[in-house]
Amino acid sequence: MNIAIIGATGNVGRKILQILEQKKILVDQLFLVASSRSVGQKIDFNGSKYEIYSLETYDFSKAEITFFAAGGKISEKYAEKAAKHTTIIDNSSFFRMDDDVPLIVPQVNPEAINTLKKNIIANPNCSTAQLVIVLKPLHDEFNIKRVVISTYQSVSGGGKAPMDELIEQTKSSLDKRKISSKNFTKQIAFNVIPHIDVFSDDGYTKEELKMVNETKKILDGRIKLTATCVRIPVFVSHAESVNIEFEKSISLEKINLLLNNAEGCEVFDKREDGGYITPIEAEGKNETYISRIREDKTKENTINMWIVSDNLLRGAALNAVEIAELLIKKNNG
Ligand SMILES: NC(=O)c1ccc[n+]([C@@H]2O[C@H](COP(=O)([O-])OP(=O)(O)OC[C@H]3O[C@@H](n4cnc5c(N)ncnc54)[C@H](OP(=O)(O)O)[C@@H]3O)[C@@H](O)[C@H]2O)c1
Repeated sequence: MNIAIIGATGNVGRKILQILEQKKILVDQLFLVASSRSVGQKIDFNGSKYEIYSLETYDFSKAEITFFAAGGKISEKYAEKAAKHTTIIDNSSFFRMDDDVPLIVPQVNPEAINTLKKNIIANPNCSTAQLVIVLKPLHDEFNIKRVVISTYQSVSGGGKAPMDELIEQTKSSLDKRKISSKNFTKQIAFNVIPHIDVFSDDGYTKEELKMVNETKKILDGRIKLTATCVRIPVFVSHAESVNIEFEKSISLEKINLLLNNAEGCEVFDKREDGGYITPIEAEGKNETYISRIREDKTKENTINMWIVSDNLLRGAALNAVEIAELLIKKNNG
C-alpha cells in the first residue's frame, strides 16, 4: 500500500504519521506533501527520513490512499481531480455535507464506506467525532431526543499558527506588553472566546452548525442538537459539557456499562477531587474520556456529562487512519 499525506508538516499530518507507526500499518511507499515553503525539510517515519514534496508538482497517481490535511481551500482545489487516481480521506470540512461523500466515524457508521461514489471520504469535525462516538451506544439503547452542548476547544483545533500565537500572547501578557490577535478575534491568553469559525445569519457560528449537521449525517437525522462552541487557552484536547435527553427510561448504571464497553471510549468518573479527565490528561491518548455522568434533575430521562478527547487524534488523525483501515479491509474483501 502506497500512502500520501497532503499537509504532512502540519498538526494533523504529523499525527497521521504517528498513528500509522503506532498501528504498524504496512506502508510500501510514503509521499509527504506540503507547500513549497517546506521543500527541503525531512520528516522521520519508521526510522527513515522522508523528503517533502511540493503540492504544486506532486503526482497523485503515486499512492492508493491520500490523506488531505492542508485546509478546505486545498481540498476544494485538488481533491476531486486527485480522486481520479487515488482514494482521498479528507480532514477538511469542504466535502462533509456532500451527499456523494460518506462522512465516517468507524465506531459509529462504518457501513457508510459502501456508499463511496466520488472516491472521497470525509473525516468529521473534531468536536463532532468525540461526541458521536459517545452518543452512539446511548442512542442504540435509549433513543436520543435532544442534545445541548457547550464546547471548550483547544487552540490546536485551528492549526499550528494559533498555538504559536497563544505562546506569544501569554509571554506578552506576563511581560505587560501590548497584545495583538492575528488568529483569534480577541485576546486568547488568559481568556475564553465564544466564537469559532464564521457567523451565519441566525447567530450561530459555522463550527456550531457543523456539529449539528454532521451529527445528523453520521448518527441520526432525527436527533435535535444545539451547540455553543468556545475557544479556550489550552494547546491540545477539546472538552464538552453535554446534556442528553432520551426517549426511553434510563439508568446511570446501564449508561456507565454501555460507555465502558464502547470501542474508543473510557469512563473515568470517581465523584471525588480529581476524579475526572481534563484536556491535558487526554493529550496523546486515543481514547475519548467520559466523566461527571449524572442525572439532570430538572428533566426526565436526561443526563449531564463531560467528554474530553485529543482533537488531533480522535478528531482528526486517528479517525482518518481508522477510515483507511476500513477501506483496506473492504478492498481486501
Ligand atoms: N487541528 C484539528 O483539531 C483538526 C481536526 C479536524 C480536522 N482538521 C483539519 O485538518 C486540516 C489541517 O489542519 P492542521 O491543524 O493540521 O493545520 P496546520 O497545522 O496549520 O497545517 C497545515 C498544513 O497544510 C499545509 N499547507 C498549507 N497551505 C498549503 C498550500 N498552499 N499547499 C500545500 N500545503 C499547504 C501546510 O504546509 P506548510 O508547513 O508547508 O505550510 C501544513 O502541512 C484542516 O483542514 C483542518 O480543518 C483539523
